[in-house]
Amino acid sequence: MNNIPASIADFETYARQTMNPGAFGFYVGGADSEITLRRNLEAYNSLLLRPKVMVDVEKVSIATTILGEKITSPICVAPTAYHALAHHDGEKATARACAAVGTCFCQSTNSNYTMDQVASSVPKEALRWFQIYVQEEEDVTKRLIKDCEKAGFKALVVTLDRPRLGKRLHVLKSGFTLPKHLSRANFYEDQDNDGSDSYYHGEMYPGMTWKDIKFIKSITKLPIVVKGIFREEDAKLAAENDVDAIIVSNHGGRQLDSCPATIEVLPEIVAACKGTRVEVYVDGGIRTGTDVFKALAIGARAVFIGRPALWGLAYQGENGVKQVLDMLNYEFRLTMTLSGCANVQQIDKSYVAPVERYSFTRTLAKL
Ligand SMILES: Cc1cc2nc3c(=O)[nH]c(=O)nc-3n(C[C@H](O)[C@H](O)[C@H](O)COP(=O)(O)O)c2cc1C
Repeated sequence: MNNIPASIADFETYARQTMNPGAFGFYVGGADSEITLRRNLEAYNSLLLRPKVMVDVEKVSIATTILGEKITSPICVAPTAYHALAHHDGEKATARACAAVGTCFCQSTNSNYTMDQVASSVPKEALRWFQIYVQEEEDVTKRLIKDCEKAGFKALVVTLDRPRLGKRLHVLKSGFTLPKHLSRANFYEDQDNDGSDSYYHGEMYPGMTWKDIKFIKSITKLPIVVKGIFREEDAKLAAENDVDAIIVSNHGGRQLDSCPATIEVLPEIVAACKGTRVEVYVDGGIRTGTDVFKALAIGARAVFIGRPALWGLAYQGENGVKQVLDMLNYEFRLTMTLSGCANVQQIDKSYVAPVERYSFTRTLAKL
């Protein structure tokens, strides 16, 4: 790319032009007809902003906390597999960028560097969470959790929405598999861990139920975040099972197609968690500062970005991920300033409205 990236879309364009097409397809694609993948992005356009003026916005703070830990902005990095497809420093680079910006990096079970390698590449105080796919073999799950505690991860993010791998057309067409020189580094007990078949493995144990959350809670003191909750009934069960937080997610449209967008589901999950201590976050389709603002206005405490961090990594490794986070933080701060919010606590649902509010059929009838 000749030009300096001016939006997240520009980073994606660069990745599309420079990455191996199979690997890019693995990153960019969704499941089946990609209805959910598109909807995650488009649903943000159905929500409009209602800026307030005459508010002192000389100083604007975008800082917040998640599970009691300070972060410089509510924009965190979601767990995504195999960062070394984008840059040889892989997850180490992503973690370093998050540490430099002061936000949370969530490392995937399916990463190319081990938890230890990631931990030792960032300062001690850098906030890291670990995403776990609960494994069929209980011993492996236990070992992963032990490694995670030893390596100083501050929370366990348990992904619930991948009992089997979604049907991803990009990957089926390209025949993409992990290149021989890369491995699923956290599974060192694999005898033949060259990654050649790992695309089809590494999912969660499909027999998993809430009993397994109880089991995990019995073997670790780490806070538990459940990822992939998509209906209010499950949010209530999560609260009853004493989890600490929920990430509203449809896995970036890569699992069950024809789901609503995450931002469309967020209101019912926020309502279900009202009056509980459960924090609610959201991921999926967040590409601009206004998207972040809308998610917070509906009640998310923080957001997680998946693909944008990978585009940054493909662009310039650690520095590229930092540029992506800096850009989104800049845009989010600007949105707050122009909307009349000096801190994240001031952002509430009065700042957003569905497009229908402004339909001429409705507004002209009132004149
Ligand atoms: C290439 C790729 C790999 C992913 N791998 C994982 C994973 O290993 N574990 C997990 O819980 N979610 C995984 N996800 C889902 C992300 O955590 C997140 O839910 C999603 O990317 C958010 O949507 P976005 O990419 O539109 O920001 C992956 C997503 C992508 C795009």
